[in-house]
Amino acid sequence: MSSKDKLIIFDTTLRDGEQSPGASMTRDEKVRIAKALERMHVDVIEAGFPIASPGDFEAVKSVASAVTDSTICGLARALDKDIDRAGEALKPANSSRIHTFIATSPIHMKMKLRMEPEHVVEQAVRAVTRARQYTDNIEFSPEDAGRSDIDFLCRVLEAVIDAGATTVNIPDTVGYNLPYQFGGLIRQLIEKVPNSDKAIFSVHCHNDLGLAVANSLSAVLNGARQVECTINGLGERAGNAALEEVIMAVRTRQDMFDCDSTLDATQIVTCSRLVSNITGFPVQPNKSIVGANAFAHESGIHQDGVLKSRETYEIMRAEDVGWSANRIVMGKHSGRNAFKTRLNELGVEFGSEEELNDAFARFKDLADKKHEIFDEDLQALVTESNLEAENEHIKLVSMKVCSETGETPSSAITLSVDGKEFNATSTGGGPVDASYKAIEEIAHSETELQLYSVNNITSGTDSQGEVTVRLEKEGRIVNGQGSDTDIVVASVRAYINALNKIGQFQEKEHPQSGDV
Ligand code: KIV
Ligand code: ZN
Repeated sequence: MSSKDKLIIFDTTLRDGEQSPGASMTRDEKVRIAKALERMHVDVIEAGFPIASPGDFEAVKSVASAVTDSTICGLARALDKDIDRAGEALKPANSSRIHTFIATSPIHMKMKLRMEPEHVVEQAVRAVTRARQYTDNIEFSPEDAGRSDIDFLCRVLEAVIDAGATTVNIPDTVGYNLPYQFGGLIRQLIEKVPNSDKAIFSVHCHNDLGLAVANSLSAVLNGARQVECTINGLGERAGNAALEEVIMAVRTRQDMFDCDSTLDATQIVTCSRLVSNITGFPVQPNKSIVGANAFAHESGIHQDGVLKSRETYEIMRAEDVGWSANRIVMGKHSGRNAFKTRLNELGVEFGSEEELNDAFARFKDLADKKHEIFDEDLQALVTESNLEAENEHIKLVSMKVCSETGETPSSAITLSVDGKEFNATSTGGGPVDASYKAIEEIAHSETELQLYSVNNITSGTDSQGEVTVRLEKEGRIVNGQGSDTDIVVASVRAYINALNKIGQFQEKEHPQSGDV
């Protein structure tokens, strides 16, 4: 990469991204995303917080076993038990990193940790020292660094680097900083910490004021050489810096940056769709890089300009980030092998022959209803919500919906619950409302519907509709997804998917809850 420095890309979609309410992912979903990140050449994948729950531990372990080219990282508070659990989960990794953290801002130390600053420094050093029993690749974060006293930060960073931290990550945990200020903080830390040359400076910015990417870029301009980010900007509250925006800003403005990442940007759109499909967080059409309109030109003047010379209005090429202009990839006559090969190219690997056969059967069903099958259709077809998993205790058996002018819509549903069939019929304001009421007559879930949204996966009236529902029960939030060319069927699938998820919801510890 010429004489420029390498910018390390640390993806935390599977950890901070999963902290978004409703974005929890199963172990297999995490492995699928991790494999897609590996294909994109992400340097470090933060796979989770192993002590949070047995499920999180297993997920980190599975990612560590499945991925060979990226470094796999596990998060741990500055506590012996967390570090030991992370070390254990990361054992199968080809290359592993432990990321340990403790808060350093006056408000966090006093109100959350109830610890004196002196004690915080000691605990940070102890954590890094313990993590070294497991790996030489150790990252330390002073949580809420963006609101910490700079002299205290310098003291903590010097001490942890001396103890063996190889990356020091500066989080703007609450998204409070402004770009000039955050860049200045990074520059001053690199100048003032006496052993700063012994560690990589990293940043981790939250988007509460919509500044996560701007703050990250300002930090890179001031010497940071690792950026922590997530696909589609997923993450706690307003999210983290969006990976795709950071990558493309640095790459497009190489005139301004003296570093670049080694990411394969052509994988960006595939990764974005995968994360959106799995989490049920749709991508807004006007989202930079990965939104459906990001490269669409509407007004006549723009179109004319682009047709004469694309540089007039385009600063990036759609194909460079993986937009394939809605390529028709398959049709009714495509065979099982072509289906499998195309999905492999999109990063989907089938766990078993049965899984492949099941997906292929549904592909044939879809091809009967829809002549042109696009990549987006294939990806939706194989999201876990559409592959009826063996362990799902509620399954759709059949449904019949009536919607007629002048009549009240009604829906008759048959569900299988733990292998036993139940029927219910209900009326409602519309066919979806009637169907959801019928499901509830069987499920009695006592959940509250917080969100219902429909997007078309491709264009045209024969497109599959992709439905997302968010259910809440006693403070637990899950998202369900379903897709079908019939949007009432898609809606029912999404609701059942959410009910199954809420039934399997596992309590887990939040890393930033304040246990010390
Ligand atoms: O936002 C934050 O401070 C974090 C830390 C755990 C790095 O996510
Ligand atoms: Zn964070």
